[in-house]
Amino acid sequence: MVPNVRFEVDDLDLDWTYRRDHFDFIHSRNIAQSIRDWPKYLRQMYKRVSPARRRYMAHPLTRSYCSHTKPGGYIELAEGSTSLCCNDGTFTGSALESYLAKLRAALQVAGFTLPTGEALKAFVEDAGFVDVQLHPIKQPWGAWPKDPEMKKVGQIIALTCATGLEVRLPPSSANLSPVLTRDVTKSYGMAPLTRYLGMKPEQVLAECAESLAEVNSCKVHAYQLMLHVVGRKPEGN
Ligand SMILES: C[S@@+](CC[C@H](N)C(=O)[O-])C[C@H]1O[C@@H](n2cnc3c(N)ncnc32)[C@H](O)[C@@H]1O
Repeated sequence: MVPNVRFEVDDLDLDWTYRRDHFDFIHSRNIAQSIRDWPKYLRQMYKRVSPARRRYMAHPLTRSYCSHTKPGGYIELAEGSTSLCCNDGTFTGSALESYLAKLRAALQVAGFTLPTGEALKAFVEDAGFVDVQLHPIKQPWGAWPKDPEMKKVGQIIALTCATGLEVRLPPSSANLSPVLTRDVTKSYGMAPLTRYLGMKPEQVLAECAESLAEVNSCKVHAYQLMLHVVGRKPEGN
């Protein structure tokens, strides 16, 4: 690991405890299924403060209320769209389309904001960041593209689908390390679909397996937009 990297385990929903103007750059990725209060999340990144409040916040006991991005610093949100795109109709009527529609419905029932470019951009702008830009990046689901680079991206996404949609461990998993086995069982779908749509676990597993088979078959030519939104905190804030 590079020497200037340090990991901390903490809860993003709580008040952050970093020092004032601590970060040149805050990058946040694939967290949309966990953040219920985006304005608060963005406020913690930004926090416009008056000079009097800055003096108050310089005290060690009150610094948890501090601004976290340095003036002139940047933030970046990166979230995958929960709706997929397709240019040739192969996604329409697929198991994958149906599964993702249910996942979106479950997340909405649970009170989460589905990440769209417009929504993420608005959160960043409303917090006070300027020069806000949206950069959508195409990610094919599966190795279906002809272009070699996009095919490679699609293969990687197919691997993440195998662990991320929700899969039953194959019999060969007995040989996997405990860490890998634990990671494989994590997923995006099981908790929201069973808790908020009342689906049975077996039904979720069956729909995930069908969706994954479509991704691996390369018959469904769907792609996701990875939504990167960047913004700058103005100097003097
Ligand atoms: C889908 S993973 C994304 C991980 C990584 N950011 C990436 O893009 O590869 C979501 C991560 O957010 C973490 N997480 C969820 N809620 C959180 C919270 N309230 N505070 C801190 N971490 C949280 C989870 O533990 C998980 O590691």
